[in-house]
Amino acid sequence: MKVAIITGASAGLGREFLKALPGTFPDIEECWLIARRKEKLLEAAKDVPCQCRILPLDLTADESYEKLEEALAEHQPDVKLLVNNSGCGYLGNVGEGSLSRQTQMVELNLKGLTAVTHLVIPYMQKGAHIINISSIASFCPNSRMTVYSATKSYVTAFTFGIGEELKEKGVTATAVCPGPMDTDFIQLGGIKGHSKTFEKLPYCDPAKVAKGALAAAKKGRSVYTPTAFYKLYRFIAKAAPTKLMMKAAKT
Ligand SMILES: NC(=O)c1ccc[n+]([C@@H]2O[C@H](COP(=O)([O-])OP(=O)(O)OC[C@H]3O[C@@H](n4cnc5c(N)ncnc54)[C@H](OP(=O)(O)O)[C@@H]3O)[C@@H](O)[C@H]2O)c1
Repeated sequence: MKVAIITGASAGLGREFLKALPGTFPDIEECWLIARRKEKLLEAAKDVPCQCRILPLDLTADESYEKLEEALAEHQPDVKLLVNNSGCGYLGNVGEGSLSRQTQMVELNLKGLTAVTHLVIPYMQKGAHIINISSIASFCPNSRMTVYSATKSYVTAFTFGIGEELKEKGVTATAVCPGPMDTDFIQLGGIKGHSKTFEKLPYCDPAKVAKGALAAAKKGRSVYTPTAFYKLYRFIAKAAPTKLMMKAAKT
């Protein structure tokens, strides 16, 4: 059974991946949908024409990794596509506000993504693809979202690393680096109305991001940054001194 596994499939960009999937990967026979909210996953399953397996898992919890490991061992899927999309980002300085918000970003964006990738790779064969959702926040440290941007730097670096490790196996890894998108993320992260930068930046369309990311993965590209504006930003962030960039990139 040719399977696609998508985390964070219950909302936002994850749901757009589901809608775009048949256009780019028409051979997928089953989708495994992962997130915490079962009802939202069941709703999302209606977006894809193939059968879906609903896995309501909290990807910050160790027992979720055990459950995923068991499901993989039981069903022995031929995973053609893994989309690590679950993620969260909270506005606020380190040392202020709640500790759980800061550690949640590390637990989900970093530990959860690493765990899922580690467990799924053994079920991927030549020609399979991994998409990791990073962010433009990975290009340079963003103060007031320091932990978030550090976790996304990890996601991008991790993607390059596994891409190299998996070359021999014939599996590709693509880091996707969108700018802001009008999803629940903005509200949940306490960003709306509290960041002048987010108000000024051009927003990316999640449907276009998902479509572009799937096409980039199919081509085996190691990084995909949507829109000319953010491609230019990535180029400048690479070339300019970090301290200078950080002034411009303050959230
Ligand atoms: N929106 C932006 O401005 C923006 C910009 C750049 C990158 N990104 C990245 O894009 C990705 C998707 O975010 P989005 O914008 O679509 O936000 P979203 O609408 O808030 O979606 C986040 C998804 O992650 C899932 N999730 C949250 N906590 C989870 C947990 N503990 N375990 C498992 N799943 C969990 C959510 O499902 P449940 O709540 O049901 O668990 C939801 O499906 C994230 O990695 C984010 O960092 C977003």
